[in-house]
Amino acid sequence: MPSWTGRIRSQSMSDICSRCGLPGKHESESDCISALVKKNKLLAKTVAKFKSEERLNDLTGAEWLFSTNTWWDTNYPMDPSHKLRSKLGSVKPPGVGAELTRAFTQKKHIVVDTFVGTGGLLLGADIEGRTSLGCELNPEMIEVIERVRDGFGFKDGNVVTRAEADRGITMNVECSSCLDWMRSMEHSSVHFVMTDPPYGIAHKKKSFKDENNFSLDELEPDSGWGKLATIEEFLESMQVWASEARRILKNNRYVAVFMSDRYMSGRYINLGARVQDALEDGGLVPKAVRVWRNKSSESRLRPYAIGSAYVPNIKHQYVLIHRRED
Ligand SMILES: C[S@@+](CC[C@H](N)C(=O)[O-])C[C@H]1O[C@@H](n2cnc3c(N)ncnc32)[C@H](O)[C@@H]1O
Repeated sequence: MPSWTGRIRSQSMSDICSRCGLPGKHESESDCISALVKKNKLLAKTVAKFKSEERLNDLTGAEWLFSTNTWWDTNYPMDPSHKLRSKLGSVKPPGVGAELTRAFTQKKHIVVDTFVGTGGLLLGADIEGRTSLGCELNPEMIEVIERVRDGFGFKDGNVVTRAEADRGITMNVECSSCLDWMRSMEHSSVHFVMTDPPYGIAHKKKSFKDENNFSLDELEPDSGWGKLATIEEFLESMQVWASEARRILKNNRYVAVFMSDRYMSGRYINLGARVQDALEDGGLVPKAVRVWRNKSSESRLRPYAIGSAYVPNIKHQYVLIHRRED
């Protein structure tokens, strides 16, 4: 046993009362009783505080522990609605939204997505039976959501065709810009904000000679944040977004934002870290970063550059986790 262990133990043993076994040197029995009362009061206070705080989620200890893993490798196969949903760009598997929903909410909670796309994340909240609300700027995406709602439903925690479903899709998505939509919502009214903003930033498909792996869609309306001219404008917008997300969130509740790094005009841009800072500048407290990739939907490696240049194939995304703490 290392000597420091013995030293700590012998020191603390000498501070323990031989009569009652509590810390401190007690001269009489009444000193022991006072120490016991003090200890129980402290314990009662701690238990009361624990009981008065609303639990974060309904998970068991083991499930909760698993959800705190910072390396998050998933392997969700494409669900039957994937083909329809992915017509307009890259989509998230509903299972990922469901996992986050289970980790950050309880059964009757309200989950919000402010960049819904065709609904990948929000379908996950809906699978978990949460009140699922969102907004999306592009009317074409809203049309796809309507078709998904008509053609699909849920069974045993999965998206299935409407004919196989035992429950319909209930998520409610408005066609609106995220700031307008959030500003129409009440203060402290939602339990979890989970979203996947665009992060193309005026990208164009380029040949690999240009060493640029921006290849996201150009389908957004002109006012979409994926079309903002500079990264600085995007970060400023995300800061304003964070202050609104904070306002509509209940205190001590969380935000999860998907984000990726980019390689642009010959430079690696640590966009994940920069957006994390922007969210903090908007008033949210940074709590964790999870590194996510979905193995089953990985694209092939692409030769962005050959010869003397090294260009990364960015396979991972971040889930930036923040909290409102008044
Ligand atoms: C990365 S996609 C979301 C994809 C989504 N997770 C899915 O699974 O379908 C980002 C979406 O944000 C939308 N968007 C861009 N700017 C917006 C804004 N200011 N307000 C609301 N939606 C916006 C885009 O039209 C796009 O559909």
